[in-house]
Amino acid sequence: MAESPLDLLVIGAGPGGYVAAIRAAQLGFSVAVVDKRAQLGGTCLNIGCIPSKVLLNSSHKFVEARDHLKQHGIFMDGVRLHLDTMMSRKNAIVDELTRGIGFLFRKNGIIFIQGQAKLESNNQVAIILPDGTVDHKQARHILIATGSDPVLPTGFNIDDPRIFTSTGALSLDTVPRHLMIIGAGYIGLELGSLWARLGALVTVVEFLDHIVPSMDQETAKFLQQSLQKQGLLFKFQRKLTQIIKKEKELVVHLMVADDTSAHLPELITCDAVLFAMGRRPYTQDLGLEQVGITTDDHGFIKVNSQFETSCPGIYAIGDVIPGPMLAHKAEEEGVAVAEILAGQAGSVNYGAIPAVIYTSPEVASVGKTEEQLKAEGINYSIGKFPFSANGRAVVMGETAGFVKILADIKTDRVLGVHIIGSDAGSLIAEATLAMEFDASSEDIARTCHAHPTYSEAMKEAAWSAFSKPLHV
Ligand code: NAI
Repeated sequence: MAESPLDLLVIGAGPGGYVAAIRAAQLGFSVAVVDKRAQLGGTCLNIGCIPSKVLLNSSHKFVEARDHLKQHGIFMDGVRLHLDTMMSRKNAIVDELTRGIGFLFRKNGIIFIQGQAKLESNNQVAIILPDGTVDHKQARHILIATGSDPVLPTGFNIDDPRIFTSTGALSLDTVPRHLMIIGAGYIGLELGSLWARLGALVTVVEFLDHIVPSMDQETAKFLQQSLQKQGLLFKFQRKLTQIIKKEKELVVHLMVADDTSAHLPELITCDAVLFAMGRRPYTQDLGLEQVGITTDDHGFIKVNSQFETSCPGIYAIGDVIPGPMLAHKAEEEGVAVAEILAGQAGSVNYGAIPAVIYTSPEVASVGKTEEQLKAEGINYSIGKFPFSANGRAVVMGETAGFVKILADIKTDRVLGVHIIGSDAGSLIAEATLAMEFDASSEDIARTCHAHPTYSEAMKEAAWSAFSKPLHV
């Protein structure tokens, strides 16, 4: 007897795909998820967000022990790094969390199939299994959640163990003496911080004249200065033209970004190069053409407001569709698409998606930057409060940074919040919730915040946006 079709077949077990699968199963769908990796969790859990945060945390502790605990009267002699142990802990955590998703799949009756999926029609997928055999699965709905992979500079390949993308940078077995990073975005700054803390000289090469193009520029400048104080070197308005591979070193050739004349390149010697120049949607060998799914000029799958592609019955979410390439954006879309398929009113508020960079200090933001508001001709008020005037930050010795709230000048509605400081990534949740509820800065200011906490800086910044702060 022929197998009855599934209600939903999800391609990709990352945060978008696995969350969509769970929500759909909760809503009564029969669901299967296909992924070419044996471990669930996609890029985020296996080679992205989670391993990088584990290592950032470990390296932060190393610097604390080596450089900062003495201020507390705690003297530790002979602090030393054992990279193997650090990496083993990272691997164990990745393992634990990916197994956690397996548990959730079993609990929700979701079938997992390891294999490479290829679209055959709007209700059938071929799956090449690890042993080379091909299985065919039918489903009423198909969801593409195949994520993204790193962009490489034109003409360059990963053909030497000393040259890698973020995946390689999370598994090095020695600390590079000099790590050259191409791209001052999220990955470049997080992984640059990580290896600088562990002892590498880190040079970050950036095409533009500033770090993280999408970030509020006042916040970006503060972050850049903080990272420079930690030893990171920046080379702005530079492009990579060549890497000469010598036995004991790599010689990187850099040119001024928009210089087309025949100037000689600047040569920098290093022993490792990390490409961190962005990511692109991953749709290779998926068979998009076979079913008539169209992509835009950057390779993103085009979807309508219901996440449906140009092929009826096939949907797409996460990094393969336009929007910020963030795990939590994909998760929101996963929930929304499952609810839409179940006849509910799933949707995503793209105006309130937070973003966090896990440097030290951390940076977190939600909503518009000052630059965007200016470009859109929106008049705004600014409320800013430094952590140096926040009691908890002083207690913790974490006074670098500020909270900055941008509110509509007429209505006081919060339009954007930018935080740089310790635990900014947790603090941004309050701002995101405020924006989700269309709150004013006065709403935040008049909400009681526990004392002493970092969150009081948010309250004070809100006071300062519509009136005056109390503590400066
Ligand atoms: P990105 O888009 O954040 O930054 C790439 C940087 O490389 C840009 O500043 C760009 O101007 C520069 N660049 C591009 N081509 C260049 C060239 N030829 N030479 C020099 N510089 C060049 O990309 P990144 O850092 O690779 O991250 C990829 C994605 O992963 C991002 O969209 C980000 O959202 C996500 N991500 C998120 C994290 C988080 O949420 N904490 C952590 C890591 C990644």
